[in-house]
Amino acid sequence: MVGAMAEGTTKQVHDRPEISVRPDDLRARGPAEHREKTFELKDVAVSYGDSPAVKNVTMDIYRNNITALIGPSGCGKSTLLRCLNRMNDLIPSARVEGQLLYHGADLYGPKVDPVQVRKLIGMVFQKPNPFPKSIYDNIAFGPRTLGMKGDMDEIVEKALRRAALWDEAKDRLSDNAYGMSGGQQQRLCIARAIAIDPDVVLMDEPCSALDPVSTYKIEDLMLELKERYSIVIVTHNMQQAARVSDMTAFLTVEMTSDEKNRWGQVVEYDDTDKIFTNPSDSRTEDYVSGRVG
Ligand SMILES: Nc1ncnc2c1ncn2[C@@H]1O[C@H](COP(=O)(O)OP(=O)(O)OP(=O)(O)O)[C@@H](O)[C@H]1O
Ligand SMILES: [Mg+2]
Repeated sequence: MVGAMAEGTTKQVHDRPEISVRPDDLRARGPAEHREKTFELKDVAVSYGDSPAVKNVTMDIYRNNITALIGPSGCGKSTLLRCLNRMNDLIPSARVEGQLLYHGADLYGPKVDPVQVRKLIGMVFQKPNPFPKSIYDNIAFGPRTLGMKGDMDEIVEKALRRAALWDEAKDRLSDNAYGMSGGQQQRLCIARAIAIDPDVVLMDEPCSALDPVSTYKIEDLMLELKERYSIVIVTHNMQQAARVSDMTAFLTVEMTSDEKNRWGQVVEYDDTDKIFTNPSDSRTEDYVSGRVG
């Protein structure tokens, strides 16, 4: 799959539903060991120059699950998230070590084209970042660039509907996206990410700039989207992680006894229910109960 992606033209990307990456009969249900793995991380470490940011990360991320990464500021959540679509490649000092498999193939293999990777594995950022274009063109940009076949009006409508934004946007498609509220802009960015029909959507604190109503809308949206996509979300909002995610990884900052070296590490990764009700590690319990943070 990733090999095909490497040599791929845009056409191959959009022929992907015929490839084995997302057979429709597979759904993430039941115990973790029965779920299909989207990512397998084995002893992954990321450093910036000589400073390790996150180390010893071994975890599987499952298809059609929402996986939450939680932990205190600086523990490496965004760094880890960016490994999953090779966004760290864009930071010159960043170095990724260990093994990271995507549907069983090495995501960092020599033949893999990171640009193709980012088409399959989309990203939504903390601050909504629509293009300074119309609502319609924001959505149509990706499909046009990729030469996606089909009626563009339909593609735009489908993405806006899936992002629960159609009713609010349908009468103002030619208006500039900057005229939308923050919550609408964030849903537009999600619509833009899914318009190219990705396999995975990564979200880095997507609701941190939003009011509670917009936050709930995005959470509902995530629950709907996971039926189609795999979602990995970074959040500082414990209730949000508990409400929406299937699996949760709690990371913390470790340091050497002289406090000269610090790095992030996964303390515990398990079903979200377990992490929030009966965690195995007392550090997880302290964090999710709000005793430290
Ligand atoms: N581009 C970068 N260059 C150098 N160091 C970086 C870079 N990005 C992150 N770091 C460092 O890597 C470590 C982890 O940062 P990261 O942003 O991944 O943490 P985080 O858990 O997402 O924090 P927050 O909750 O504040 O967003 C920190 O020590 C940070 O200073
Ligand atoms: Mg971050």
